[in-house]
This record gives sequence, structure tokens and C-alpha cells, in this order.
Amino acid sequence: MELNQAKDFMIIQNEIILKKKMKNMSLNIKKIGIIGAGFMGRQIANWAALHNYTIHIYDIDSEVLEDAKGFITKALKRKHEEHVITKVKYFNILESALKDVELVIEAVSEDLNIKKKLFSQIEDYVSEDTIIATNSSSFPVSKIEDSVQRKERVLNLHFYAPINVRPMVDIMRGTQTSDEVFETGKNWIESIECTPLILKKHSFGFLFNRIWRAVKRECLIMWADGIADIENIDEAWRIFTGMPMGPFTMMDGIGLDVIYNVESSYFKESKDPRDRPPDKLKKMVERSELGLKTGKGFYTYRKKKK
Ligand SMILES: NC(=O)c1ccc[n+]([C@@H]2O[C@H](COP(=O)([O-])OP(=O)(O)OC[C@H]3O[C@@H](n4cnc5c(N)ncnc54)[C@H](O)[C@@H]3O)[C@@H](O)[C@H]2O)c1
Repeated sequence: MELNQAKDFMIIQNEIILKKKMKNMSLNIKKIGIIGAGFMGRQIANWAALHNYTIHIYDIDSEVLEDAKGFITKALKRKHEEHVITKVKYFNILESALKDVELVIEAVSEDLNIKKKLFSQIEDYVSEDTIIATNSSSFPVSKIEDSVQRKERVLNLHFYAPINVRPMVDIMRGTQTSDEVFETGKNWIESIECTPLILKKHSFGFLFNRIWRAVKRECLIMWADGIADIENIDEAWRIFTGMPMGPFTMMDGIGLDVIYNVESSYFKESKDPRDRPPDKLKKMVERSELGLKTGKGFYTYRKKKK
């Protein structure tokens, strides 16, 4: 072997060793702190517990915490995974919840100030090596990271609900996230049998929400401008994609108030007039035509019999 070949060989070997080392780093995560036991926090807790992680879940509201306990216990029993129930522990004191955790996932209400305050508290209670992630749907971690010292240890881990139906997680860096933290995050996502959606650069709306946003925007424009009927657009989508539901049916399911708020936040960020949600949608929200949950949205729904 010539000297240069030997050098190349050594570099390749070192890269392989480094990659293996990084892959093993996710194995160092055993205990996870989940902050916020609402709609998402309890799902993440349940899913990670099913994948053999010990979970410490905390919420500021003890009633929510109790409710989450009922939800998780029932879900684990349904899966005949009763032995996992004791792997999930419930806390109403943040410091106790964060003792010895290697990964923290913040899943509290979508309020930047709450998240910033919480990140700074979390950093005070965890070890230097702990990774701190946010499940925020709209805030890049770069907007939160100012509140912590160890900016290299933060990242976005954004789940899609319901996790068992949509097992994928956006992973995005802050301005200083280290390669090791990013790689560990990616490996951890794989360890819970989810597909990592890797953002190579900062992206408002992450990976899939950005695609879904484009679909929603065009559908809403076609509807508001009277270009096509919602039934026809939904039908086209179903035929083309083979999916059971079209975009308007999906928006009704999510809630038109949520859709309006999300679209408004995209518009606020981009300032592109095409991103402005149609006034027609705003008027529907004002009339409480919010979709499935109020019985009327783009479509009309019969109330469920009690
Ligand atoms: N709902 C979704 O489909 C979805 C999907 C992906 C990501 N997200 C994101 O996940 C996060 C949580 O959303 P959600 O739908 O679960 O909301 P949620 O309202 O159901 O739950 C939020 C929980 O946070 C708790 N909380 C508020 N302040 C707190 C604090 N300081 N400390 C501890 N707990 C606190 C509340 O008591 C509540 O139980 C948000 O950032 C949201 O953008 C939501």
C-alpha cells in the first residue's frame, strides 16, 4: 500500500469508527424528561416508553398530569404492555422530573416566552451532557436558544400526531447545535421506530409541514377565488394520491381556527401576500364554523349520537 493510499485508508477507518461511536451515543439515552403532558407530551411519553425508555413526565397542571396517566396506562394496557407502565413516572416538580435524564423534550403550550423561560430552568436542573429539544410546531430552536448557555445541546424534534399513524420526526439544528447532538437525536428517533426528517438548513415549517403548507395554500386560494369547488379538489387529491381524504376534509378535521392561526403565522413570517389566509376563512372562524368539532366547516357533519 502506498503512503497516500494508507492515509486514505486511515481516514476512512477513522470516519467509520466516529460514525459507529455517534450511532452508539443514542444508546446512552435511557431516561427522558418530557415537559408538558398535554395532547403531544403524553403521546411522546407513551411511544418512547413502548420503545424501552424510562420516562419522567411533568406538567404544571396536576389535573392534566392525572389525565395523562390515565391515557398512557390505558394505551399500554391496550397494547398488552403492562410491564411498561412502571417505566413512566409522573412529576409535579420540574427539578425532580429532570433528575438524571439524558434527553429532555419540551412539549408545552405554543408560547415563545413560556418555552424560553422553561429552557433556562431546564438547563439549571440537567447535567452538561443532556440534550434539550423542543417539539414546537412553529418556533425554530434558534428563537429559544438565547435563554440557555449550552447552545450546542439544543435542537428541534418535531413529532407528527398521531405518532403511531405518522411515525416521523423533524430534526433541525439551532445556530450552534453540535454534530454529536444532531447525530444522537437522529439515532434516537430511529431507535423509537420513527423516520427522521432531516433539515440540512433552517426551514420555517420544517420538512413535511412545509409541503402540507403549500398544498393548503393553493387549495385555499382556489376555493376563495372561486376557481374550483372543494368537493372536486378533494376528489382530485384522492384519485391522484390514493389517500382516503382530500385537503379540505383534512383541514376540517384539524380545526379551521388552528388552520387560520397557522396560516397567519406563515404569512407573518414570509410577508408574501399569497400566504395571507383568505378573509373567507377568517369569516368562517368568526362564525364558529370550525370543521368537525363544531359540526360545520367546509363540509357539514351530523352530530354523533350519544
Ligand atoms: N397538537 C399537535 O398536533 C402538535 C403536533 C406537533 C407539535 N405540537 C407542539 O407541541 C407542543 C404542545 O402542544 P399540545 O397540542 O400538546 O398542547 P396542549 O395544550 O395539549 O398541552 C400543553 C401542555 O403544556 C402545559 N404547560 C403549559 N405551561 C407549562 C409549563 N410552564 N410547564 C409545564 N407544563 C406547562 C399545559 O398545562 C398543557 O398540559 C406545542 O409546542 C405544539 O406546537 C403540537
